[in-house]
Formats: sequence, structure tokens, C-alpha cells
Amino acid sequence: MNRRKNKLCRKKWNIRCIYCTDEGKDAQLLSIQINSASDLIKRMEHIEIRKAVPDDVYKLQEIGRATFYETFSPFNTEENIKEYLCHSFATEKLKKELSDANSGFYFAYNGKTLTGYLKVNWGSSQTEIKDANALEIERIYVLKEYQGRKVGQHLYEKAIEIAGERGVDFVWLGVWERNHKALRFYLKNGFTEFDRHVFRLGKESQTDLMMKLDPGKQKKTHEKIF
Ligand SMILES: CC(C)(COP(=O)(O)OP(=O)(O)OC[C@H]1O[C@@H](n2cnc3c(N)ncnc32)[C@H](O)[C@@H]1OP(=O)(O)O)[C@@H](O)C(=O)NCCC(=O)NCCS
Repeated sequence: MNRRKNKLCRKKWNIRCIYCTDEGKDAQLLSIQINSASDLIKRMEHIEIRKAVPDDVYKLQEIGRATFYETFSPFNTEENIKEYLCHSFATEKLKKELSDANSGFYFAYNGKTLTGYLKVNWGSSQTEIKDANALEIERIYVLKEYQGRKVGQHLYEKAIEIAGERGVDFVWLGVWERNHKALRFYLKNGFTEFDRHVFRLGKESQTDLMMKLDPGKQKKTHEKIF
């Protein structure tokens, strides 16, 4: 295998080939290593999206708290995080939200494992704006261990599917200005900033960027809805 082939092989299968040069002889292939076997596995993983129902309240509470804690505890005080987790993921509050006709929760499963969830709101259940013709993506959260495996993308595409079914004019969301990972994810999917709002985390006020899906920048992996 020559260097050109090696390049192609690396591109196509993410395989790393190791060469040695033996006293000026042509480079010889010594061994081929799968650069990242897990990359291949990740691509083959089956992700299923299921609507959550009121009986799923404890599952939702568990993944909601776990993903929020993983995401924000490195940047916030333990006290503020705890206060938010207790209040925003209280059983009664979640039960009410799960029964809300203007909201939808969706779980992502990798096989039998619950790995992420989505919450969308429309009409009066949107946290802001409350435009009758808009849909809010309030939450897309994926367990750290499963990030980078397209779970977030599947959940996002579910949100876009719902927006299409509801025939809304636009999709919007709020994301913490310091949450760079999520910002890049939404930018990549065609969102642009249109405003800023204050978000309370415990005793702290933080700035959320309000983003709207820009139809011109919408990713081609899903049907255009606008
Ligand atoms: C943001 C988040 C939902 C993305 O989900 P994910 O499962 O890790 O992302 P995916 O594997 O589905 O990636 C989908 C696309 O976004 C891109 N992407 C994901 N994270 C990215 C990052 N940090 N920077 C750049 N691009 C990124 C991927 O490359 C992929 O693009 P491609 O289809 O062109 O290859 C996930 O990281 C997460 O749950 N973060 C913590 C919770 C959070 O912050 N949620 C948002 C709160 S508003």
C-alpha cells in the first residue's frame, strides 16, 4: 500500500497505517491499526427517539438532573446548581410538564440505554416570546459519555420534525453564552443570535443568547421546513 492509498484509507475508514523505511527501501506497511475503533462503533449505533409519557417522570428526573449537573457544575457553585436541580426537576413540576398539551418530551435510546432527551414548547408554554407561530427548543441534553455520537442531532431533528408538523414560522432557543459546545452545535445547525436575555441560576444572573433557525443556513440533513 502506498502513501496515497494510505491517505484514502485513512479518509474512508479512519484507519491509521504505520510505515517503516527499511534502509531506503520503499515504505512497507508494518501494521494497520483501527485509529479509533469506537468511532466505527458509534457510527453503527442505532438511536431511537421515543415520546416520554407521564409515567416516565422518574426516568426524566434522573437524566434531567444528571445531564444538567454534568454540563454546568464545572462552571457554577454547588449551591446554585443544587437549588436549580431541586426546583426545576421536582417530581410534581415534571409531572405537570409531561402532561402539558403545549410541550413535548422525547427520549433518545442507544439500544436499551437512555442517553439523552429533548423538550420542546409551543404556544403559551414557551418560556419566552410566546409567539403562536413559533416552537421553542427548551432542552437538548445528552449524557457526556454518549456525546459526539449523533444523539443530539437525532433529538434536534425530532424537534425540527415537530416544528414542520405544527407548521410554525420559526424555531428558537436560549443558550448560555458560556456554553460553547452547545453554541457550536446550534450554529452548525443554522441558528443565529437575535437577542440576549437574563437567566437565573440560583442566586446568579447569567446571559442567555437567544437564537433563531436561519432558513438560509439550515443543515441539509433534514427537510427544510421554512
Ligand atoms: C450540544 C449537544 C446536545 C450536542 O449533542 P451531541 O450528541 O454531542 O452532538 P452530535 O454527535 O449529534 O453532533 C451533531 C453535529 O454537531 C456537531 N457538533 C457537536 N458538538 C460540537 C462541538 N462541540 N463543536 C462543533 N460541532 C459540534 C457534530 O460535529 C455534528 O456535526 P456533523 O453532523 O456535521 O458531523 C451535547 O453536546 C450536549 O448534550 N451538551 C450538554 C448539554 C447542553 O449544553 N445542551 C444544550 C443546552 S441549551
